[in-house]
Amino acid sequence: MDTMTTTETRPEVDPGDLFQAIIDAEQKIEPRDWMPDDYRKTLIRQIAQHAHSEIIGMQPEGNWISRAPTLHRKAILMAKVQDEAGHGLYLYSAAETLGITRDEMMELLHAGKHKYSSIFNYPTLSWADMGTIGWLVDGAAITNQVMLQRASYGPYSRAMVRICKEESFHQRQGFDILLTMMGGSETQREMVQDSVDRWWWPSLMMFGPNDSESTHTEQSMSWKIKRVSNDDLRQQFIDMTVEQSKVLGVTLPDPDLQWNEKRGHYDFGEIDWDEFWAVVEGNGPMNRERIENKSRAWDEGAWVRKAVLAHAAKESSQ
Ligand code: 3HC
Repeated sequence: MDTMTTTETRPEVDPGDLFQAIIDAEQKIEPRDWMPDDYRKTLIRQIAQHAHSEIIGMQPEGNWISRAPTLHRKAILMAKVQDEAGHGLYLYSAAETLGITRDEMMELLHAGKHKYSSIFNYPTLSWADMGTIGWLVDGAAITNQVMLQRASYGPYSRAMVRICKEESFHQRQGFDILLTMMGGSETQREMVQDSVDRWWWPSLMMFGPNDSESTHTEQSMSWKIKRVSNDDLRQQFIDMTVEQSKVLGVTLPDPDLQWNEKRGHYDFGEIDWDEFWAVVEGNGPMNRERIENKSRAWDEGAWVRKAVLAHAAKESSQ
């Protein structure tokens, strides 16, 4: 048989079959590949939400840059907040490869039509909160994000590799702040305990609703966007954190926390899902302030964007 005949008779490959074959083979879907509309929509929703979380998450910590107790701590906190801005930018770029613009994502966020993580709607009341955010909030974020390095969409998974490296440093610097304070005065130890009491439950809520209530988990796992369910990640985080709390010498505010020999995991108490949904729907302690600050910064920065674009246009015309 000659090659010509073989080429002419080769059957057309169905794009849906090719998409599934790429997923099954643990390879990556890239921006120009065919993908189902719902896969694209799910990725835009999740990646934009993730990017918005990184950017809004700069506010609670930015609140403490000018009040950090030493120059050393101030420099570390500034670098951390700057890292979060960088994470937001990689993620907005990844979302843009799916056909949405950055301006559209901003408009949807400012109009309350895009979500961001519930955790950033709580106030930061003391310096100990900088330690607790690093330990628990970045700790929860990294527990969730390690699996996203293996997400089936190439630009998202590649952005997550660098983000995870930086989040891991963030978690350690938070633990270090708390460890230092626990070795200090009685007042410092009380500040740490008060902070852990306030952030523990909201950190567990970061993983999203229980699997039985989760709208997207099953489909996202079958597309290999998510690799582990909300409940399994939450359990993994609790098992790791309880051991770390012993090293710190703090008490986690859950009387039902107990090692279950049979399950090989810690049992824990019931999460207040009414509080979670109230925060997700815009009624948490800081939701309004966070969005007002974000929209104002966007409006006030309009002249910078205009100047940068005008400069870029001039450069390319030369
Ligand atoms: N805050 C706000 N909304 C939440 C939420 C949370 N903690 N958890 C779930 N939701 C929303 C979902 O977006 C969904 O609403 P939608 O349909 O309007 O989008 C609804 O609740 C049902 O939840 P599902 O479990 O069905 O949703 P997902 O399958 O998308 O799972 C998720 C939720 C685990 C958060 C997943 O989207 C995810 O892994 N996202 C990427 C990671 C991310 O966004 N992390 C933000 C953490 S903060 C951070 O990274 C900053 C760092 O510096 C600390």
